[in-house]
Amino acid sequence: MARKPIIAGNWKMNNNIAATRQLVSELIPVVADAVCDVVICTPYTSLAAAVEACKGTNIHVGAENVHWAEKGAFTGEISADMLVELGVEYVIIGHSERRTYFGETDLTVNKRMKAALAKGLKVILCVGETLEEREAGITAEVVRRQTKIAFAGIDNEELDNVVIAYEPVWAIGTGKTATSQDANDTIAIIRACMAELYCPRCAEERVRIQYGGSMNAKNASELMAMPQIDGGLIGGASLKAEDFGKVIHF
Ligand code: 13P
Repeated sequence: MARKPIIAGNWKMNNNIAATRQLVSELIPVVADAVCDVVICTPYTSLAAAVEACKGTNIHVGAENVHWAEKGAFTGEISADMLVELGVEYVIIGHSERRTYFGETDLTVNKRMKAALAKGLKVILCVGETLEEREAGITAEVVRRQTKIAFAGIDNEELDNVVIAYEPVWAIGTGKTATSQDANDTIAIIRACMAELYCPRCAEERVRIQYGGSMNAKNASELMAMPQIDGGLIGGASLKAEDFGKVIHF
């Protein structure tokens, strides 16, 4: 059974409500005939508008983070129930910008994963090494650790609801893409780790792993041709309909 490709845009802190409506209206015709799953992850304030604008289309909507508690004294946070209530389907967890700037750890990533899955959200889990870690030769160790801790306590049945995004931190927003071979090799390491944690067939058939980091209209087809790469998590190139459309039609 082939793994269905999945391309997701991570808008980060871009696009107010008006810009969201505009970009979605441009995207709808461009991605209508996509053969892959299409997701856009927007800031919290744009989610309701995105869900409304994407109704009846093949574009799925995701958030960029979620808290693990159901409710309570967590100023500034958003619960999984709140996202579900809006009609949101996906959520990015553990993005390197959250890990670097906002104190996200492997343990908090695991807590967020469990809460999101328990409420029926689909998770895009981000893992990836920093430049220092790559240069120290510990990329495999880092992505294995991140993967193992993220999935601690998560049942086999949930695997269909999780997508992993391998995003080498040094390739994000820098214009430096991992070579397609390097990306493929590290994704193979992550898949092997999932085979150990669950089963070889689960990892082979049910775990989709994206590449992210300066993926764009020009390099998407080469990356997507690699056997281990099942999709992309796109930052900058997801902010223009024409560029995102080209990635979608890798
Ligand atoms: P860029 O595509 O802008 O490098 O961002 C990648 C990313 O962080 C997606 O989550």
